[in-house]
Amino acid sequence: MKISTTPADFAREIACHSRIFVIRDERIDPERCAGWLPPSATLLGTCTLPSGEQAKNMNSIGMSWKALMQAGADRNTLLCAFGGGSTTDAAGFIGSTFKRGMPVALVPTTIVGMVDAAIGGKTGINFEGLKNQIGTFSSPIAIGIHPIWLETLPKGEQLSGWMEMLKHCYIDGEASVEWAHATESFDDIAAMIPDSARVKLRVVEADPEERGMRKALNFGHTVGHALEAVALEAGRPIAHGLAVGFGMAFALRASVELGAGLREEQADEAVERLRFWLASTPLPEAEPDALWAAMLHDKKNRDGVVLEVWLADWGQPRWDEPLKKEDFLRIWSKTRAEFAR
Ligand SMILES: NC(=O)c1ccc[n+]([C@@H]2O[C@H](COP(=O)([O-])OP(=O)(O)OC[C@H]3O[C@@H](n4cnc5c(N)ncnc54)[C@H](O)[C@@H]3O)[C@@H](O)[C@H]2O)c1
Repeated sequence: MKISTTPADFAREIACHSRIFVIRDERIDPERCAGWLPPSATLLGTCTLPSGEQAKNMNSIGMSWKALMQAGADRNTLLCAFGGGSTTDAAGFIGSTFKRGMPVALVPTTIVGMVDAAIGGKTGINFEGLKNQIGTFSSPIAIGIHPIWLETLPKGEQLSGWMEMLKHCYIDGEASVEWAHATESFDDIAAMIPDSARVKLRVVEADPEERGMRKALNFGHTVGHALEAVALEAGRPIAHGLAVGFGMAFALRASVELGAGLREEQADEAVERLRFWLASTPLPEAEPDALWAAMLHDKKNRDGVVLEVWLADWGQPRWDEPLKKEDFLRIWSKTRAEFAR
């Protein structure tokens, strides 16, 4: 799979398709989509999805299937989607199920979409109030990423994406971490998006079924998901990437304390950078016992044991590491104190 970094290159990648149907996030300007499509192709139709998670409900999916039907789309029609991870997750699902599957191409417009959601072939929609309960594995035929979309992307969304980019740096290696730790402003981030996307691509191509290395992409996500769930239940939701930022601080400290190999000074420096980036993000109020209860529902667990990802060094993740409740409570209490205001 190739990641195109210009509209012209992306248009060339999909030029073998003569009929295209576009799905886009309602916040994406349709004029900005035109340059990504080959001039020779016929635009069969367009449908917009509501902003955010609303794109991933049955209503939006049904409406899109209907629009595809009315436009006369068939299994050779290319479905091309423009939007963040919510749109690309939904479009991937719509495309992989309509008439038992049509080709899909993705142009993610958020950082989370560019470096994470659009890559790896996981599609998904929410069901009965739960995230990503229904979905398929289906890879897009082309992905196009470009920093132009960041011009309109709110800063909070950029920060959320930057946290996932930081995670890629930690699992990539020392040079990436050095660059990440020297970065102080969003202006410097855009240039690294393609490299960050390629970190995920490399991992998922090496381990598409998540039997080993792909699990490393969950670094910081066990506590991150638990924080997200508890905050949501309390009616004060936190963006996924920001929750992962706090989760990574925990995982960095645990990597040292539980002897995975990361050195204390490495964790100190990384946690200091996380404190810098998350300075205006309040840590969700959550009872440690409630967090642990949420962690017991993590999809990565086996036989009731919470399995974590630690770092032996930059670029050396270790997955399937069992975490005991007493270790979580001790290390989380220290991590929480580091983010107290
Ligand atoms: N499939 C996967 O492997 C995978 C991985 C990570 C995340 N995800 C999914 O991705 C979703 C989160 O993605 P996200 O963080 O991109 O959120 P999102 O798609 O919900 O977008 C966030 C907000 O930004 C707006 N937006 C998008 N692009 C914009 C732009 N260029 N300018 C202005 N506003 C813009 C959207 O309308 C929305 O309000 C979640 O549903 C998550 O489950 C999937």
